[in-house]
Amino acid sequence: MQTNKRPPASVLFIFGGSGDLNYRKLTPALYNLFLDNWMPDQFAIAGIGRSPYTNEAYHEHLLDGVTKFSRRKGKQNGHWTEFAQHVSYLQMDGDDAAAYHKITDLVKQKEEEWGVHPNVIFYLAVAPQLVPSIAQKLGALKICSDKSTTRIVVEKPFGHDLESAHKLNILLSEMFAEEQIFRIDHYLGKETVQNILALRFANEIFEPIWNRNYIDHIQITAAESVGLEGRGGYFENAGALRDMVQNHILQILCMIAMEPPVSFDANEIRNKKVDVLNAIRRITKDQVHDFAVRGQYSGGWKKGEKVVGYRQEQGVDPQSAIDTFAAAKFYIDNWRWQGVPFYVRTGKYLNQKATHITLQFKPAPHYAFPKEAAETWRSNRLTISIQPNMDISIRFQAKRPGQTMTLDPVDMTFDYDAVAGEHAPEAYETLLLDVMEGDATLFMRNDQVDAAWKVIMPILETWEARSPQDFPNYAPDSWGPDEADALIARDGHTWINLPPAP
Ligand code: BG6
Repeated sequence: MQTNKRPPASVLFIFGGSGDLNYRKLTPALYNLFLDNWMPDQFAIAGIGRSPYTNEAYHEHLLDGVTKFSRRKGKQNGHWTEFAQHVSYLQMDGDDAAAYHKITDLVKQKEEEWGVHPNVIFYLAVAPQLVPSIAQKLGALKICSDKSTTRIVVEKPFGHDLESAHKLNILLSEMFAEEQIFRIDHYLGKETVQNILALRFANEIFEPIWNRNYIDHIQITAAESVGLEGRGGYFENAGALRDMVQNHILQILCMIAMEPPVSFDANEIRNKKVDVLNAIRRITKDQVHDFAVRGQYSGGWKKGEKVVGYRQEQGVDPQSAIDTFAAAKFYIDNWRWQGVPFYVRTGKYLNQKATHITLQFKPAPHYAFPKEAAETWRSNRLTISIQPNMDISIRFQAKRPGQTMTLDPVDMTFDYDAVAGEHAPEAYETLLLDVMEGDATLFMRNDQVDAAWKVIMPILETWEARSPQDFPNYAPDSWGPDEADALIARDGHTWINLPPAP
């Protein structure tokens, strides 16, 4: 959440330097920051990995990722050589404590060259099981005791359940102070997610109606049209509830439900979010059936292409009970939201890629219009589309042009994409810049992570204890299992699907 400052001199070490996240997301993000003049005057990036690369071969590999995945297609090569001069490759095994001197050597070299002590940032873009051992070895380095300039960035998943997340937090806290630990949830860096704060807290008109007196219910959909994308091994230990609800969806829910912050101080914002998580009603295990639905996709047709079911995917147990779809209903027990259901859903191989939030308002209290005029009357609705559409839309009634008084629902839309276009930074750009600045507002604090796990643990434990009898229970290209429709229909509602992106 930058204002207009460029960060101080920084050295970034990316563990998993030859991996997919760096190739697709981190280097394209750093390169875009460089093109937009956001990188510090003095910076160095070192990719760390076990695969052998010369610096030249490493640059070529990264450029390939930039060409394929950067938001600036085609225009990027002009400054690549200049950028690449700041990038090197350190071949080392993260398990080998004796190799860590390579890190301190590079920092020392840059310090001498630049004449300042730089920020030192360790980005752990590695499999979760490698995090503790790398963190421990880093913790033994003297530079890590410098709380103001050394930071560690940890990717999700943060733990596998409440207990393991708690243990990981304790382990990290033995080596790093909380202000040094940046737990990434990339949804928080998305432009349209940050825009929720602007919509709610920079405008006078929404806040007075943003509560149980006016809002009937809220829906959050994070639908994916893609399947596993080769991540069978990871997903078998995760599932949709862990992969998407525990983090991304609950974070969005917090932004929608939080109380107005007093300031944009990182802890103030995070306190307000933790309040929401703590206020989410805990469901008991015997209520899980009424509050949550799981699904797993079968084989079938996906946009005209034949695809296999989840259980036939590579790296997946043929009897797997893992959820590739999850839907849930939450209540927030506080003054503002008492009695307002929040319905959330996510899944792989769904009909469209679409992440959106809908605030469904209550019906108008009195219909003064003749019955015929109001046949198509619909209650007001505010929709915030996060991706791929980036817009905010308000539905209200308008008179249909003509001699009769007939009312139709119409949408008034602010198209964020039209104003931002290719200038809108990717989530990782925003988040990497924040790490260099030391601004933790958009990162998860340890108590946030714990609180989010506490919300979903009863569901996870119940699902793990009871094998699903009906898996696979939804077809590719659908909107998930019928039970998800039943979950919301029991309260008299239906899921809102928006027209696909053009
Ligand atoms: C990741 C999940 O955190 O988010 C993936 O692990 C998921 O399974 C991805 O596909 C979705 O991110 P986005 O930005 O494409 O919505």
